[in-house]
Formats: sequence, C-alpha cells, structure tokens
Amino acid sequence: MKNSKLFIIGAQGQLGQALQAQFRDCEVIAWDIQDLDICQLDQVRKAVKHIRPDIVINAAAFTQVDQAETHQEAAYRGNALGPRNLALATNEIGIPLVHFSTDYVFDGCQSRPYHEFDRTNPHSVYGQSKLAGEQEVQKTNPRNYIIRTAWLYHVIGKNFPLTMLRLAKQEQVRVVSDQFGSPTYAPHLAKAVSRLIETESYGTFHLAGSGGTSWYDFTQALYQASGIQTAVIPITSADYPLPAPRPAYSVLTSLQDPAMTLPPWEEGVRDFTTQLKEIKT
Ligand SMILES: NC(=O)c1ccc[n+]([C@@H]2O[C@H](COP(=O)([O-])OP(=O)(O)OC[C@H]3O[C@@H](n4cnc5c(N)ncnc54)[C@H](OP(=O)(O)O)[C@@H]3O)[C@@H](O)[C@H]2O)c1
Repeated sequence: MKNSKLFIIGAQGQLGQALQAQFRDCEVIAWDIQDLDICQLDQVRKAVKHIRPDIVINAAAFTQVDQAETHQEAAYRGNALGPRNLALATNEIGIPLVHFSTDYVFDGCQSRPYHEFDRTNPHSVYGQSKLAGEQEVQKTNPRNYIIRTAWLYHVIGKNFPLTMLRLAKQEQVRVVSDQFGSPTYAPHLAKAVSRLIETESYGTFHLAGSGGTSWYDFTQALYQASGIQTAVIPITSADYPLPAPRPAYSVLTSLQDPAMTLPPWEEGVRDFTTQLKEIKT
C-alpha cells in the first residue's frame, strides 16, 4: 500500500488509532464523527469523491453492546446504514472498502472455533446490526474485505484489560470464567489488515488473536504480565448479568490465508503490557 492514499473513518477509536500507527508511511486521511457522520449518505458521497482515496477503511461503529439493546435504531444506523453508505460511495468510484465485524454474529453454541463459513445466528441487537452491516457491504461493493474480530483492546479507549488494571486496586476481582473468546490486541490486527489489503482477495476473514481463552484466564495472564498480585475469583455469567446476551463460546479461527494469522492472544497481552509501561515512563 506504499504510495497509496488511505481514508480511515472512526480514526479516534481503538482500532482507528492502531490503523493510523500501522499506516504511518502512507498518505492517510483520518476522520472521525466530528468530520463525517457515516449515517449521512450525501456527506459520505461528497467526502469520498473529494478525497479520492485508493481504499477506505471503516473503523467507525456503534460499539456499545449493552446500549444497543435499548437503542436499536442507533445501532442499526451506525452498524448497518453507515457501512451501506460507505459501500455505495466506494463502489461508485470503484475502490475497495475494508469493514470490521464481530464474533457476536455467532450464537456461541459451538464447542470448536468458528470459521468464516460457519452459520451466523446473532442473539444480541449489536450482533444483529453488525450482521446486517456485513450483508449491506457485500451486496453493495464487490471489492469488500469484511474482517470479523473479537475482544478488541488497545492501550487507549475503553476496553476489558484497561478496566481490569483499574480494578486491580481492589483486594480481589470477580471475573466471568464461562465465556470463551479471542482477545485481540489492536496493533496486531492493524498489521494483519495491512497484509490483507495487499492481496486483493476480497471476502470475509476472521482476524483475531490466535487461540482462545476465558475472561478469567485473560485477566490472570494480564495480572501476571503486569506484576499484579490481586486475587482473581472465577464467577459464572449468571453471577454477572448484562443487558445484551454474549456468546458463551466465540473463539475465531480462519480457513483463509494462514499468512494472515495473528499472533497468539498471550503475545497480545505481553505487547500491550510493554506498550503501557513505555507510555508511563
Ligand atoms: N471493541 C471490541 O471488542 C470489538 C470486538 C469485535 C469487533 N469490533 C469492531 O471493530 C471495529 C472497531 O471497534 P473499536 O473498539 O475500535 O471502536 P471504538 O473504539 O468505539 O471506535 C469507534 C469510533 O467510531 C466513531 N463513530 C461512531 N459512530 C460514528 C459515525 N456515525 N460516523 C463516524 N464515526 C463514528 C466513534 O466516535 P464516538 O466515540 O464519538 O462514538 C469512535 O471514535 C468496529 O466495527 C467494532 O464493531 C470491536
């Protein structure tokens, strides 16, 4: 993608920032909602035609999983209408669109990792709106990369490991041990995206930290890497009810190009911890 012009939307989010860092050697136009609301088709068309990028990367989304249950319209606007608008505008000038989706498109009833061709069956409004977004993008721009990722985190933003580090001041933390997924360090994902978009092999890809774990074991690994002694107590999902249903098991794997495989999730924890230490010193 050297000498290419990239238009990143949702640039201030966790993934948006990782993508900006990954593509620092390219010409990058990085916008967020204050520059462009992806739900407004006329604005999207105008921006894409004016910027004339070689590729658009959409890291914008309505990501509040629990709020989506009571704000269904907002979820569908951000996660289905917005991506459709981007797919329309990019298709009109014949360029690819990179779009991100989620493990929440699956129901979590499987006991082996989900690959790209497994049946989707989202139970939450967030998952349903993200699946609708995938379908709109597929229908509207054939040059699409749809990347399903999971349990995303970075050294900035709101995410699970940053919350766990904040809670480590307590004597003990209680963490769900019966939900399994693929923790994904955003810079690892951004690197894989940079390899994927060189391929022009369009389609749906699972890109998430390799291997699977529970929130409980993820926390244990995080505390160990950070030298934290706080006790971690396993609890069940029933002990920690939330408005949106989560898949009990949504570990992702890929049947696509193995060259796209992300590092093991444990390496993500190590790189995250190192990066946090560097920021603090
Ligand atoms: N976080 C996860 O665990 C996770 C897991 C699986 C998949 N994903 C997917 O990965 C992608 C990136 O997630 P993330 O965690 O980086 O998200 P994030 O940190 O919430 O960032 C999303 C960014 O998009 C902006 N945005 C929201 N609505 C917009 C709109 N209508 N127009 C333009 N910008 C808008 C947000 O602005 P405001 O903050 O002002 O709303 C925010 O800056 C999303 O597609 C998400 O669904 C995330």
